[in-house]
Amino acid sequence: MLRPIILVCYFLCLFQGFQLVSGISCKTRSRYLKLNKCCSKCPPGTYMNSECTETKDSECYNCGPDRYQSEWNTLDHCQLHKTCNRNGGFVVEKQGTNTADTICQCQLGMYCINKDCEICEENKVCGPGYGVVYRQDGGISMPMCERCEPGYFSNVSSNMAPCRKWNDCGSLPIQENGTATKDVKCGTSGLPSKAGLFTVIVLLSILLVIIILLSFICIGSNKEHRTKIRDIVNRLCRHNMSKPVQEHVKTENGRILATAGDEDKSPEDGTELLPV
Ligand SMILES: *[C@@H]1O[C@H](CO)[C@@H](O)[C@H](O)[C@H]1NC(C)=O
Ligand SMILES: *[C@@H]1O[C@H](CO)[C@@H](O)[C@H](O)[C@H]1NC(C)=O
Repeated sequence: MLRPIILVCYFLCLFQGFQLVSGISCKTRSRYLKLNKCCSKCPPGTYMNSECTETKDSECYNCGPDRYQSEWNTLDHCQLHKTCNRNGGFVVEKQGTNTADTICQCQLGMYCINKDCEICEENKVCGPGYGVVYRQDGGISMPMCERCEPGYFSNVSSNMAPCRKWNDCGSLPIQENGTATKDVKCGTSGLPSKAGLFTVIVLLSILLVIIILLSFICIGSNKEHRTKIRDIVNRLCRHNMSKPVQEHVKTENGRILATAGDEDKSPEDGTELLPV
């Protein structure tokens, strides 16, 4: 027969054991023990605004802008996104979300010196005949200068340019073979290229416009030139026509007037115009 004191102890032990078991099973990714109660943690993207009470579960709020929380948590705030420091050579690789931090990388021509990419360093400059190649080295992408293989060339000194492929001449003959520092030069197929033809046409058009402009300026500005040019034109016309062109019209009172259209009042035969 069990004595009452032993019975009480037995139940107490049972209760303790139950608490222990429930406590262990409560410690999961999304739950935690609080006030002998199994309460919810806050999911990624949120933080705990207030802990659970006897009567209600935890209260979670969304992370504010520029903040994130990647884990189930009981924290009272979300972490700020890191900023990629431009002066340090960093640029944003991936903008942060409410569950992930921003990821920075080194800008073009620079590389991360360690896995966590805490510091950017300038790439070495590769001279002509060499191109920048990235090689995995202990978890980091290390820039190296490598000699351009046959079929590729580099004619610049650069800390980011890789070797470039030689020109593909296709059906055109090769005028000059390529090297590690020089591109292949393609010959011409005999026919003038479209670009060349276009240039010639443009140049001729410009020349024509200049000639026309110049002649207009000369004719307009110089009376003597104007007269001379008209002389030439008239002579050519007379030559071509059997009858001479009637130049002047006699009016009833015998005065000689210039023909219509003869604006500059200096006829080529030297006749002075009488005042009308
Ligand atoms: C280019 O090289 C090939 C051999 O690799 C040679 O047969 C050819 O004559 C060369 N062409 C020129 C234009 O140098
Ligand atoms: C390098 O080669 C390219 C392609 O042939 C050419 O357009 C460019 O002018 C060259 N640059 C230098 C610095 O020689």
